[in-house]
Amino acid sequence: MWYISTKQTNNSIKAKIKGDIMKKIKIMTVFGTRPEAIKMCPLVNELKSRTCFDTVVCVTGQHKEMLQQVLHAFKVVPDYDLALMKPEQTLFDITSAILSKIKDVLNKERPDLVLVHGDTTTAFASALACFYMQIPVGHVEAGLRTNDIYSPFPEEFNRQAISLVSKYNFSPTELAKENLIKEGKSENTIYITGNTGIDALRTTVKDGYTHSELEWAKGSRLILITAHRRENLGEPMRAMFRAIRRVIEEHDDIKAIYPIHLNPAVREIADEVLSGCDRIRIIEPPAVLDFHNFMKASYMILTDSGGIQEEAPALGKPVLVMRDTTERPEGVKAGTLKLVGTDEDVIYESFKELLESEESYKKMSEATNPYGDGYASVRIANILEENLVKKEKR
Ligand code: UD1
Ligand code: UDP
Repeated sequence: MWYISTKQTNNSIKAKIKGDIMKKIKIMTVFGTRPEAIKMCPLVNELKSRTCFDTVVCVTGQHKEMLQQVLHAFKVVPDYDLALMKPEQTLFDITSAILSKIKDVLNKERPDLVLVHGDTTTAFASALACFYMQIPVGHVEAGLRTNDIYSPFPEEFNRQAISLVSKYNFSPTELAKENLIKEGKSENTIYITGNTGIDALRTTVKDGYTHSELEWAKGSRLILITAHRRENLGEPMRAMFRAIRRVIEEHDDIKAIYPIHLNPAVREIADEVLSGCDRIRIIEPPAVLDFHNFMKASYMILTDSGGIQEEAPALGKPVLVMRDTTERPEGVKAGTLKLVGTDEDVIYESFKELLESEESYKKMSEATNPYGDGYASVRIANILEENLVKKEKR
């Protein structure tokens, strides 16, 4: 379908006057949480820099403050904000709010393509809405799998379900592509691009970076901690924190910074298990630029996060992944990630070993980069241009 975008720019008007009618392809990006924003904003900015696209940004607001931080960092101003976050939101709340609110946006904009990212409920529900309206979907970070529908929960379901409807699949690695092929996805819908998270990392990490928290940790080995997974809330998270506290109390040359997620359920457990230890600082989530530089300054990381598993290998930082499964086996193969589950004693032993054995530490701290060179957004934009703009012109 050819049309002149309603958001016609001066340039396109000039082009029209010249008789060279400018036909823009409308691409809507939809995202709602911190990690999606970190990995989608570089792509949004790349798409916006190309005159052949009319780029519309819709945020669901599944996250609020943590999303705003990232939008601010990348200077992305959404065209639509569904503003759906509420305290203690359930998966029903998020899914139903998106389905009912995004319909009008899609109806009004009628994009040629909607891009979603990864495996959040925002991505799943937005892709489902597009399917209902028969709007093509492109999936950024396609093909990650644990093949255990309950781990991570509900993300493994979300990402598999998105793959059922996606027309363009942007896989970060060869392995992710193979996962999709095994599921019967046609090879010509899959493009290996690297991960856009590395694009973000390329712009944030700075030499000579300083911060008061890093000053506090100076002279100690810095441990960075994050935790938030739904399936870890409750006893698994308590066990994780108990193990971490035991090790920190036994090693007086280490200090830990824990940028805590805004989820009150996480805060309650952290307060219960970690408070009162003067070598653990629990801080409000820093902006992405700060967090990436904290990673760079750290000795090692303990986390149940997904994105951090991609960023840490690029920085050569050992990560103990406090989950039973990972969809990022490339980082495990590269040696930077070790899957330690949520058993208190296993985390305790693994953490202690990494602190006490130089050999184990050295093995895990080689910088490798299985997730790309930091130009995934450029590749994705090129592919979209080739498929949506140039094909139309032929
Ligand atoms: C969501 C995603 C998860 C992703 C994670 C990244 C789903 C089901 N989960 O999980 O895949 O790994 O984001 O962090 O899509 N809150 C705030 N302010 C914010 C953000 C969150 O107050 O800016 C609080 C709210 O009380 C909210 C709660 O955190 O109800 C949980 O947020 P939610 O998006 O439901 O779950 P996450 O664990 O963040
Ligand atoms: N991050 C951040 N500030 C923080 C913690 C994490 O900017 O306080 C970044 C981190 O570098 C990564 C992303 O947020 O890019 C990961 O987000 P999260 O762990 O919440 O989600 P997941 O990746 O598990 O979906």
